[in-house]
Amino acid sequence: MPAKINVALSVGPRRPDGFHQLRTVFHAVSLYDTVTAAPASELRLSLDGEESGGVPADRRNLAWQAARLLAERAGIEPAVRLVVCKRIPVAAGLAGGSADAAGTLLACDRLWRLSLSTAELTELAALLGSDVPFALHGRSALGTGRGEQLTELPASGGWHWVLALADGQLSTPAVYAELDRQRAAGDDQPQQPALDAVPAALDSGDPDRLAPLLGNDLQPAALALAPYLRDTLAAGERAGALAGLVSGSGPTCAFLARDSRHARQLATAIGAGGSCRAAYPVAGGVAGATVLDGPPLDSPAGTG
Ligand code: C5P
Repeated sequence: MPAKINVALSVGPRRPDGFHQLRTVFHAVSLYDTVTAAPASELRLSLDGEESGGVPADRRNLAWQAARLLAERAGIEPAVRLVVCKRIPVAAGLAGGSADAAGTLLACDRLWRLSLSTAELTELAALLGSDVPFALHGRSALGTGRGEQLTELPASGGWHWVLALADGQLSTPAVYAELDRQRAAGDDQPQQPALDAVPAALDSGDPDRLAPLLGNDLQPAALALAPYLRDTLAAGERAGALAGLVSGSGPTCAFLARDSRHARQLATAIGAGGSCRAAYPVAGGVAGATVLDGPPLDSPAGTG
């Protein structure tokens, strides 16, 4: 299951349910977690992979919640052994937990032979988190509501980005709360992402057309909580990225490249600059959660 970035993210007012009204363009990128689901007598979860440190392997984990929710909906016991291999960093603005939940829904649906429709899985995904429907969907999509209502965009793939991973983490609720605080104090700096022009720019496949449209209303709040991100953004600019922004609630930064070669050059330069933990070239507009192994009876079902 892929990570996501938000090419543009426009945050409206806080709603009575505590969530903020959003308009965003989600874009799936080729940094993947995988989930393996195997038959078991009860729900068990374990984690591996280089980004699994400190991730809870219990009911706090969104993959656990996804298996419980799907079993409940189907009226069966959540009898599955899940192994989540984490390469997407946690609390990074990349929706890694949402990716794991989406993959778990798909893998358990296959393992338990439920054959839910995409619409049914998407409905369950929205109950798990605002970004989970997009993790199922992938490619590029317009997200509205709290982010869970998706409109597919006819975007071509073939985009090239660099993800600059941070040493620290940011809590999504804390970043939204900081934005509320800035707005209440009148010291916010509206980014006013040029969202309406993004679908056509994505469709054109022209990175020079997309570059000036990147924007994220959460960026000033993320920068206030993690001022070191200014150095990362500056490093991307110096290295010659077409544009850069904080991904979602951060602290990962995403930089737009002209092509794959440019992305590799940028990643090397940004990574060498020391302002981030690591910098990876990734492809953008990739498919969402996918079943990797077929479902012969009683064999594991893996999603990636
Ligand atoms: O939906 P999800 O569980 O990923 O949201 C995590 C937190 O992010 C919410 O509890 C809320 O504080 C914040 N959030 C928000 N508005 C959104 C999405 C998330 O305020 N549209």
